Amino acid sequence: MIDIRCQYLGLPLRSPIVASPSPMTATVESLLSVQQAGAGAVVLPSLFEEDVNDESMSLSRSLDAGTESFAEATSYLPPAPLGLVGPDRHVRLVSAAKETLSIPVIASLNGTTDGGWLRYAATLADAGADALELNLYSVEANPGRTAAEVEDANLRVVEHVRWRVDVPLAVKLSPYLSATANFARRLVDVGVDGLVLFNRFYQPDLDLETLDVVPRLELSTSADLRLPLQWIALLRPQLPTASLALTSGVHSGGDVAKALLAGADVVMMASALLQRGAGQLQLAESQLVTWMAASEYRSVTQLRGSVSSAGAKDPRAYERAQYLRMLGSYRGRGPALAPALTPVAGLD
Ligand SMILES: Cc1cc2nc3c(=O)[nH]c(=O)nc-3n(C[C@H](O)[C@H](O)[C@H](O)COP(=O)(O)O)c2cc1C
Repeated sequence: MIDIRCQYLGLPLRSPIVASPSPMTATVESLLSVQQAGAGAVVLPSLFEEDVNDESMSLSRSLDAGTESFAEATSYLPPAPLGLVGPDRHVRLVSAAKETLSIPVIASLNGTTDGGWLRYAATLADAGADALELNLYSVEANPGRTAAEVEDANLRVVEHVRWRVDVPLAVKLSPYLSATANFARRLVDVGVDGLVLFNRFYQPDLDLETLDVVPRLELSTSADLRLPLQWIALLRPQLPTASLALTSGVHSGGDVAKALLAGADVVMMASALLQRGAGQLQLAESQLVTWMAASEYRSVTQLRGSVSSAGAKDPRAYERAQYLRMLGSYRGRGPALAPALTPVAGLD
């Protein structure tokens, strides 16, 4: 019997496969379907501060105007009954999920102001969330702000939230930090229980007909696993007590196995569930168990981190040395270099 139980943020989970925030975790029905498929926990869609503020303002504007309509929410939550806007929709989802599910329910928050981060963190914790994920998603386009200033400001927010709420706390990181290992350690030093690596940053596209900037959300593939995989492997021995969750590119049991070997405590799935439904989570679990049995692993605890940067046969494989090997591993898959190397008639 293979034991896939694990711990994440101090919570006991039946499986290391968690449903990441997405429309698949936005209604009680879809939450039930991922629980039924075997999810160890669920993370609800983020409460976005600017979004809930917009909703509240739209409602009060429309009430002032004496109408009964208000702008459609731009968040990932489905439209709510009239009157249930702003943070109330998220509070309602947290409490409905807690009432209905038997697995841990993690709420997620993306704030834009210090007050908003604190207020809504407390709101979600008070609603009964088992843990809170702080989604540090922002695009730092101000040339007057240094990387250190941005990181210090983020760290201050996280530290204040840590003081404000008692529930376990995870931070979902951007892949675009210049000193990821340092920032990760400082987060753990201020009392964060776990890190989620990495958020996917979506870049808009340009429409050549209308010249509009258009949102273009592309779902991941297994190839997107490698960036978080590398960082989980590097951070695992540096942060032995922190929970590490891998998100981006987890589609199959093989992807889950790689993440756990690198040192993840759990993996999070979104794209795979949106593309193929909750059943993909069940399939990934059975593929994981089959692989573990064939590779003679008896438990997730046994395999976790065994190929981290501390456990790998060549620890440098995760660092710069791998860059040179990677470039050297290219074996003429196309004519890209050929023309320049071909002698040109008359010039030699
Ligand atoms: C439609 C959609 C909605 C998402 N909403 C959120 C969200 O509210 N909060 C969040 O932290 N991540 C959100 N994500 C990101 C996912 O949770 C996940 O981290 C990311 O898609 C990478 O995982 P994947 O490769 O399994 O898709 C969303 C992703 C998608 C595709």
